[in-house]
Amino acid sequence: MQVVAVNASPREGGNTHLLLNRVCERLQARDIQTEIIHIGGKPVHGCRGCRHCFEKRDRNCIIRSDVINKCIGKLLEADGVILGSPTYFSDVTTEMKALIDRAGYVSLANDNPLAGKVGAAVTAVRRAGAQHALHSMHHLFSILQMPVATSTYWNIGYGATPGEAGLDSEGLQSMDNLGDTMAWLMHCIESGSRQYPFPKGDRSRRMNFIRPDRPSAT
Ligand SMILES: Cc1cc2nc3c(=O)[nH]c(=O)nc-3n(C[C@H](O)[C@H](O)[C@H](O)COP(=O)(O)O)c2cc1C
Repeated sequence: MQVVAVNASPREGGNTHLLLNRVCERLQARDIQTEIIHIGGKPVHGCRGCRHCFEKRDRNCIIRSDVINKCIGKLLEADGVILGSPTYFSDVTTEMKALIDRAGYVSLANDNPLAGKVGAAVTAVRRAGAQHALHSMHHLFSILQMPVATSTYWNIGYGATPGEAGLDSEGLQSMDNLGDTMAWLMHCIESGSRQYPFPKGDRSRRMNFIRPDRPSAT
């Protein structure tokens, strides 16, 4: 099994990377392969809302000039996904938001291939706002039928300058426990899903509270 971890910090070797690494080490110790992809600091576009993905249904976003499509492809191949972002003004970075919007729409447009994959989110923060950033990432999982791995505390590491999160021993403990829980969940799903196949959700009912004849995707 494979987990893809996305680092949306522009500081490639910074605190978010340190936290993701820590989770990945625990996953590797439990026979799960990991790959960290860096999208932070790269030029990315937000979703255009053009709905081209719903017309084409080819598991791609129409914007092919940036790193997001490649990243979506990796997420679709993986068994588990970790989203990592520093907390910026109590939220995720621009790069992470672009990934959430575009991966979410591409998945919804294509019969939701992200459903059933285990999701986890981590954030690095100097002082405050991390809860909101975590929620922003969890929102992707909770609309796409992705079981969410949790830890013994919220998945937050404290630090300002690169490497400082390594001094937050409780934060590191949370990352270790997150890795263990995620590995457990993935192994349980793998061994149990033959007997209990994943319940693909019914999305046939769609309300649009302005125009009932014109349902929307989200
Ligand atoms: C634009 C910007 C906004 C930030 N907003 C917050 C914030 O809202 N709360 C906070 O505690 N730290 C904030 N920080 C600090 C970062 O969250 C912190 O330095 C974090 O460790 C960076 O992670 P990284 O090394 O992976 O980039 C902000 C930093 C930047 C550059």
